[in-house]
Amino acid sequence: MLKGTFPVEKFKLLPTPFYYYDMKLLQDTLDVVKAESGKYGYHVHYAIKANANPRILSMIAANGLGADCVSGGEVQAALDAGFPADKIVFAGVGKADWEINLGLDNDIFCFNVESAAELEVINELAAAKGKVAPVALRVNPEVDAHTHAKITTGMKENKFGINLSQLGSVLDQLKGMRNVRLIGIHSHIGSQITDMSGFRNLAIRMNEIQDDLAARGIVVENINLGGGLGIDYYHPNHMPIPAFDNYFAAVHKLLQPRPGQRIHFEPGRSIVAQCGSLIARVLYVKEGEMKKFAILDAGFTELIRPAMYDAYHRIENISSDEPVDVYDVVGPICESSDVFGKDIELNKTHRGDWIAIRSAGAYGEVMASRYNCRSLPKAYYSDTI
Ligand code: LLP
Repeated sequence: MLKGTFPVEKFKLLPTPFYYYDMKLLQDTLDVVKAESGKYGYHVHYAIKANANPRILSMIAANGLGADCVSGGEVQAALDAGFPADKIVFAGVGKADWEINLGLDNDIFCFNVESAAELEVINELAAAKGKVAPVALRVNPEVDAHTHAKITTGMKENKFGINLSQLGSVLDQLKGMRNVRLIGIHSHIGSQITDMSGFRNLAIRMNEIQDDLAARGIVVENINLGGGLGIDYYHPNHMPIPAFDNYFAAVHKLLQPRPGQRIHFEPGRSIVAQCGSLIARVLYVKEGEMKKFAILDAGFTELIRPAMYDAYHRIENISSDEPVDVYDVVGPICESSDVFGKDIELNKTHRGDWIAIRSAGAYGEVMASRYNCRSLPKAYYSDTI
C-alpha cells in the first residue's frame, strides 16, 4: 500500500487525536496557485471557511492571497492573520448588523450581497457611518455543479444568491441607493467539483449576465467566480496538488472579461485539504460476528465529513506493515453515524496503532465540535514538530 510519509516516531510523544499539517505541501500548493492564477492576472481570495487555523491563515496571507469570509468572526480572523482589508470579500445569506458594521469599519474590499433585503440594510448602515459600501451582487447562476446535494449552491432551489429573474429589479433598486456602489458580480456553484463542465458553464453564464448588464449600460469592475475546485480524496499520495492549471485555463478559455475587468476566485478546499491529516490511535480492535471494527480515539467530532456527506477519506495504518486485513473504521461517539469508513483495507491493526485519516485539511478542524463533552484537539505542524 502506498502511504503518506509521516514522522511516526515524533507522533509518539503527542496526545491523540490531533491534526497534522504538512507545511511544505501547503507552501508548494500556494506556489502553484500563484503561478497558475498569475498567468491570467486572476485574483485569488482563500475561503477561510475551509480552515481558519491561525498558522495556516498567516501562511496563506504571507503569500499575498486575499480572503473570502462568510461571518464577522471570519473577517476578524482574516484581519488578525494579516490579510489586507482591501483583499477581503464578505459573503453569506445572513449577515448580522454587527458583521456588516465590522466590514464597513475596516473598509473591506467588497460585500457579496445575496438579497434585495440585505442590500437595503447595507445601504442604511453605510449611510449611518457616512460611507459608501462596495457591493457585488451574488447571482444564482442556475448551473449544476454535479456534486453532492448538500454542497451544491448554484441551483434555483438553493438559498444562495439573487435569482437571475430578479437581477433586473435589484439593479433598479440600486439606482436609488446612495450608500452602496456596485463594483461586481459574484457567483459560486458548489464545492468538491471535479467535473470542469460546471466551471465552463459558469463562465458561459457569466458572459450572458454581462451581456444583460451591458444592455442596461452597466459594466462592473469585478467578476468573482467563487470557489469549488475539488480534490482527489482517493489518491492523496499521487495527486497532492489539485489541477489548478486546468481549472484556470478552462475559465480563461471561455470567460469574456470586459476591458480592465478584474477576475476573482475563492478556492478553499483545493488549497488546504491535502496538507492536513487527522491522526488518531486505535483504542480497540473489536471482532464482531460479521465484521472487524477498528475503534479509534477520534470520531466525527474531529472530522464530520464522512458522517455528514458520506464523504470518502483515505485511511492508513501508519505504524503497521503487516499484511492487509479489512475493517470498519469507527469512532467512540455514541451515534451510529460515527463511522470513518466501511470495509477499509488496512495493514493488520492492533490496539495502540497510529492511523492517518487523509485529506482532512479542509472542513476538518474548522468543523470540529465538543459533542459528548470532548475536548477540541490540537494541531501540529511539520516544520515545528
Ligand atoms: N465561496 C463561497 C461563496 C462558498 O460558499 C464556498 C464554500 C467557497 C467559496 C469555497 O468552496 P471550496 O473551494 O472550499 O469548495 N463543508 C463542506 C463544504 C462546504 C462548502 C461551503 N461553501 C465539505 O466538507 O465538503
